[in-house]
Amino acid sequence: MGIKLGILGLGTVGTGTVQLLQDHVGRHPLLQLVEIYRVGVKSIDKPRGVTLPKEVMTTDLEAIVNDPEVDIIVELIGGLEPARELILKAIQNGKHVVTANKAVISRFGTEIFTTANQNRVYVMLEASVGGGIPVIQPLKQSLSVNRIHTVTGIVNGTTNYILTRMQTEGSSFESVLADAQRLGYAEADPTADVDGADAADKISILASLAFGGRINREEVNCEGIRQVSKTDITYADKLGFVIKLLAIAEKISSSFLSVRVHPTLVPKAHPLANINGVYNAILVEGDPLGQVMFFGPGAGAGATASAVSSDILNLIARLQYQQADDAPIDPLLGCSHQDYCQIAPISQLTTRFYARFLTKDQPGVIGKLGTCFGEYGVSLESVVQTGFQDELAEIVVVTHDVKEGDVKQALEEIRTFEAIDSIPSLLRVL
Ligand code: HSE
Repeated sequence: MGIKLGILGLGTVGTGTVQLLQDHVGRHPLLQLVEIYRVGVKSIDKPRGVTLPKEVMTTDLEAIVNDPEVDIIVELIGGLEPARELILKAIQNGKHVVTANKAVISRFGTEIFTTANQNRVYVMLEASVGGGIPVIQPLKQSLSVNRIHTVTGIVNGTTNYILTRMQTEGSSFESVLADAQRLGYAEADPTADVDGADAADKISILASLAFGGRINREEVNCEGIRQVSKTDITYADKLGFVIKLLAIAEKISSSFLSVRVHPTLVPKAHPLANINGVYNAILVEGDPLGQVMFFGPGAGAGATASAVSSDILNLIARLQYQQADDAPIDPLLGCSHQDYCQIAPISQLTTRFYARFLTKDQPGVIGKLGTCFGEYGVSLESVVQTGFQDELAEIVVVTHDVKEGDVKQALEEIRTFEAIDSIPSLLRVL
């Protein structure tokens, strides 16, 4: 029996997936059962990197999800709509779904998985986080016997590429971004990447799997890398850190998680400090396992096609060998979360901070800063004054572990001091 695929979208990932499936020699033998039955595109005549029979291609995506012959829908169009609507329709028509769409899963996961469970079908999403890196299935299966404490990831290749080049070349954010766009590493509209939304979608998905509950995407604190300056990268380097955009999900008490994305000073000896360029890595810490890190290409046609096809393979195995029509959902493959995780507001976060001040160069300024921080219970680890900018003294402070809310309050007061010109940077330290 062949398994009929309806593929929605034939862009970079769609083309890579069709190429992989058409070239199955030396891969798992079950892939030979795949029939690329329909492929939905915007324009039939556009030149493609794959050859498909004319009758397979259509611009009617809705007809594919409504076609009773199709067993599995592979959604690779991305974005929220019409992806959400097509996925829901496919599920209601009893089809399994494979998707690479982190935006739709992180925002509409509740609706999608509830509908999938009602219709006893699976929605597979290995390609939605970390491109080719297997991390979804390991979190669902191999690691799920652990109590997970923390998931920390570099899950956006565009921003990691920009920060790596800023660090190695001493260039500004704007100039590296422009170059990355010219070279095709960054999108023409880089907003979702550089402002952290893409990473926030991905950490919402990882947090949900690691901590066994639903995540309200709106509650994920999200800061991007636009405010990271080459001055901060240089100071971080002198202090023994590199700056990375980290996506973090962490259990901070018996009932609360912290889920957040922000540029972070990472100690140079930390495993994530050496993940450079477009690569992604996800560090999972749990009990009794300790640390395990997943590393690899976080985007690209071949890498993402590998993840998409592994989901297809899983579904073929079920369709071929295990599935009675009324069989309940396999909890290791499907989603059985009912409740939402409680996410603590960012003001409750306890972490170290790096702050940079521009001040008048006059006696007592450092003393006043220290006193004010002390009044709000903020303990300082180091204070350095190394440079001048336009006759203003530049002072860099690193705190011990402190409450974010306390630091923010202290900074509000410090801002009012006559000697303070500005506070150009406030970054968290891992
Ligand atoms: N835009 C993403 C990134 C790749 O830069 O990592 C797709 O998830």
